[in-house]
Amino acid sequence: MRFRILALLAALAIGSPGRAAELNVMPLPEAFSFASGRLAVTREFTVVFKGQKTAALEAAVGRALRRWEERTGLVFPRTPTGTYAFAADPEHATLVIDSAAAAPELPQLGVDESYSLEVTGAQVSLRAPTTLGAQRGLETLLQLLESDSQGWSVPAIAIKDHPRFPWRGLLIDVARHWQPIEVIKRNLDGMALAKLNVLHLHLSDDQGFRVESKTLPRLHAQGSDGHYFTQEQIREIIAYAAARGIRVVPEFDMPGHSQSWFVGYPELASAPGPYQIERHWGVFNPVTDPTKETTYAFLEKFLGEMTALFPDPYFHIGGDENNGVQWSANAAIQAFIKEHDLKNNEGLHAYFNRRIQKILTADGKNLVGWDEILHPDLPASAVIQSWRGPKGLAAAAEAGHPVILSNGYYIDLCHPAADHYLNDPLPSTNALTAEQQARVLGGEATMWAEWATPETIDSRIWPRTAAIAERLWSPAKVNDVDAMYRRLDYASQRLTEAGLLHQTQLAPMLRRYAGDAITPSGLEALREFVAFVQPVQGYRRGGYQDGSQFLALTGLADCATPDSKAGRAFARAVDAVVNGKADPHSLTRFAQSWRELGARIQTHAAETGARAAELKSLSEQLIDAAAYVGDLLGKFASARADEAWLKSASVRLEAISRPQSAAELSIAEPLKLLTAAASEWPRREKLTPAEWRELVHRTAFPPEKP
Ligand code: ACM
Repeated sequence: MRFRILALLAALAIGSPGRAAELNVMPLPEAFSFASGRLAVTREFTVVFKGQKTAALEAAVGRALRRWEERTGLVFPRTPTGTYAFAADPEHATLVIDSAAAAPELPQLGVDESYSLEVTGAQVSLRAPTTLGAQRGLETLLQLLESDSQGWSVPAIAIKDHPRFPWRGLLIDVARHWQPIEVIKRNLDGMALAKLNVLHLHLSDDQGFRVESKTLPRLHAQGSDGHYFTQEQIREIIAYAAARGIRVVPEFDMPGHSQSWFVGYPELASAPGPYQIERHWGVFNPVTDPTKETTYAFLEKFLGEMTALFPDPYFHIGGDENNGVQWSANAAIQAFIKEHDLKNNEGLHAYFNRRIQKILTADGKNLVGWDEILHPDLPASAVIQSWRGPKGLAAAAEAGHPVILSNGYYIDLCHPAADHYLNDPLPSTNALTAEQQARVLGGEATMWAEWATPETIDSRIWPRTAAIAERLWSPAKVNDVDAMYRRLDYASQRLTEAGLLHQTQLAPMLRRYAGDAITPSGLEALREFVAFVQPVQGYRRGGYQDGSQFLALTGLADCATPDSKAGRAFARAVDAVVNGKADPHSLTRFAQSWRELGARIQTHAAETGARAAELKSLSEQLIDAAAYVGDLLGKFASARADEAWLKSASVRLEAISRPQSAAELSIAEPLKLLTAAASEWPRREKLTPAEWRELVHRTAFPPEKP
């Protein structure tokens, strides 16, 4: 029992003798304290199960040990058949896993995921009320491994942890661009690492119907170009997810976003066909006819089949962006609205949802839908997923619905991780009652796939989704953005080790983009340059490229990844100036490096042949950005800017920020801030530092007019 006493001492030790209090674990645990000492990780590392054990937990331990073997090069003890040799005696094991109860084989909303971890110089003790909690704790332990000249080790530490929200999801859209099973599986591995527990599969949309239907086979046969999951594959995904403590919630979007259904079954639509798979992105008119009984007979059959295939009690019916155009143009549908006193198209949509909810209830499912389905007639048990704005979540919770937040977690829009990280489902300023707050189940990152293929999707999901996962798991007070980015760097390496391609795809993509005539030094310059570039943010990409399933996503915007580190480094330096912590001239080194990098691209651009024009333009913009910083530094010394100066600065900034092939320099926002700081510099004397900062931010980013 010696190790127990040591563990207790470790748990009581406050602070960290001789050690910085940084814990490179993401999501950050609820509570932790470093103790002195460390546990050596050697080839003798053994595991013992005390208490309950499940096949999922045992498999998770096997994956964890393999991950550590890959990092350390050690070979842990194995049986003659090649499986890991589990110790029989807790006294002599390195890792003791003690789970009080077996978690259900299929994870359920609200299963206890808490755990505690105590590491002493002698042993790791992982305790949890359920085997699923033990799996979450294993993911934490995996991230604690360190090395120095003495070898591999885990620091002595005591951790107590449990999730803040029970619904922590990632939506993957497999409809717009098909994402085959290997994409789903590796992202499930990433989710397990980030302690996410819901995979929301967006399985049908105008551009594709992606599940085999045995009862209505023209759905996948005519609506998918042959790109769909067989039912066997769906079962495989569900099992793979369940083994990692992740639920799978299917979404079949209806009544809008459903043109692909009508290719094989045009009689479902509200206007005569024929229909074809939609190839472009946007909101389209085709919509299911909710006035015909044949529609409900069809959906009863379809939902009966799909609710049996997907075992989770929650079933998503979409319900978003129904523009009502086909309904308004159809006299019989408008007559139906009148006859049934449904008032308008919204009333008809609510009628449709009630009918679908009845079917789902009979099939034993809870309905989930986007916030457009919120309506006074919708039963309170329906779960609302809020995407359109911060008000949607509160409105649904006030109306008595369980809610999930996705507004602010749209990772497909390529915003920085910091924006998502500071988007809290329950900010301290929220006006909900305790009862209403309890209805907020959590949130989901949404990976819509208009602009993502199997080759690029990982780099759109990761590592930023790990920051969202931390927001949903860790206490609200864990909100230091710089610390988050430090942890995110570690998390990103762990995700690569787990098989995600967000870092490793870049090299071959860039090589293909650059073409066969690129020289090694040209490719190196391009690699550095692309790190300065980001895909345009928000819904702007369709403004620069003709978005469709036919456009190969292999251009500059696809090689570039969101949340550029180079851009962030400059933004931090500008912040230091605005916060009075650095002299404006500290920015000179950035301008110098941009000039050099821009010149290298100019030298090598011709090697890229047809890509040369866009690279020349962007590198000229980077060189001009360097010159612009120089001009701004001159401005800091002089009088407050006049109208003419501001106008020319704005024109120049716009030119510097101009996207090429939907990719833009990642330094535009901090340059805006710097422009405001330069123009307002003389007023600094008359204001408090806080007032001045506020003025600079307001000048750079004026609040949008309502
Ligand atoms: C959505 O983004 N239309 C839910």
